[in-house]
Amino acid sequence: MKNNKSYGLDTLAVHAGDFKDAFGSVVTPIYQTSTFEFKDADHGARLFAGEEDGFIYTRIGNPTIRSLEEKLATLEGGQFGLAFSSGMGAVSTLFAAFLGQGDHVVSTAAVYGPSRGILETYFKKFGVASSFVNTADEREVEKAIQPNTKLVYLETPTNPTIELTDIEAVSSIAHEYGIPVVVDNTFSSPVLQRPLELGADIVLHSLTKFINGHADVVGGALIWNKEDFTPLLRKTMAYFGPNMDPHQAYLVYRGAKTLSLRVLKAQENAITIAKYLENHPKIEWVKYPGLKSHPQYDLAKKQMKGPGSMMSFGVKGGLEAGKKLMNSVQLAKLAVSLGGVETLIQHPASMTHAGMSPEARKQAGITDELVRFSVGIEDVDDLITDLSQALEKI
Ligand SMILES: Cc1ncc(COP(=O)(O)O)c(C=O)c1O
Repeated sequence: MKNNKSYGLDTLAVHAGDFKDAFGSVVTPIYQTSTFEFKDADHGARLFAGEEDGFIYTRIGNPTIRSLEEKLATLEGGQFGLAFSSGMGAVSTLFAAFLGQGDHVVSTAAVYGPSRGILETYFKKFGVASSFVNTADEREVEKAIQPNTKLVYLETPTNPTIELTDIEAVSSIAHEYGIPVVVDNTFSSPVLQRPLELGADIVLHSLTKFINGHADVVGGALIWNKEDFTPLLRKTMAYFGPNMDPHQAYLVYRGAKTLSLRVLKAQENAITIAKYLENHPKIEWVKYPGLKSHPQYDLAKKQMKGPGSMMSFGVKGGLEAGKKLMNSVQLAKLAVSLGGVETLIQHPASMTHAGMSPEARKQAGITDELVRFSVGIEDVDDLITDLSQALEKI
């Protein structure tokens, strides 16, 4: 694709990363091969030495996977991208690459449960310390930085508390101490938030969510600009082996082409639903960055192009009333995950975040009554009718 830089995000979502093959395929083909034949022994040696670009073995790289990596990097405004078998594959590779014995990481308290869990269990076992703080207040980040801090790991908005961190403010503090900043951008996608432009060094995605968008693939990615990170991240992935599969890459590549259409339609639905819920007599509270009642409404306006389609809320009557709602919806599906074309509802304290200790959940603001709602692209009237009949049953 020529003149990448001059195209808008929608054009790039469709075309960036396209792979030209010998037959003129319009769509990047699935290179379902584990290994690649060398032209001769010297060619193989040059590829291994990194003296020539090409493919060796699919755990290290593959044309279909590379197409996806290029598309993702372009959408996030990055130079380099690496795709993984899951979002957690990206998280664990990132930590393994940047953290070693005696190191320390500062992270958002309400970060995705397993992202916190892997630090508090496995990385702790290997001698890595971690501090989980309220990164919504950048002074808390500065207070938590230690001489051995090697990474600041943010998630904004958070899952499921929908809290925001000022990426620009935290990045400038962390950079004063020479610490790289990583942002899990899963909840926003590059359509709504571009962390690299706000000063972050690496963007992380669970591709399972908005980028693939069809609830049929699990995948992850890292995107960055600094050339120094490339050998480190590539080697860590190649050693640990959480690489993506070519067929999986093809599906995500296809899903990503309609990213803006899906994200914007879901967001339009979410704005209507958040207002509906906020005014409903059976709803105690709604947390959604598109509502003026969100404490960081102004920050959302500053760093995001829109509030997205993720929200959490509490039903009057607490957990029992929330359960009744979840059991009564007929169109919204009671399932974990998010960011797909279908609307999903779930209960983080007993599902996605059940692995966290009650104290950690309390610190992160994941209360027992919190219900998470991932709004899809259905007709908004149908979604409201569904919520309304379910709320009537409480
Ligand atoms: C914000 C966030 N980051 C990372 C992950 C992990 O991604 P995956 O489930 O693709 O491994 C998730 C999964 O729900 C998530 O919500």
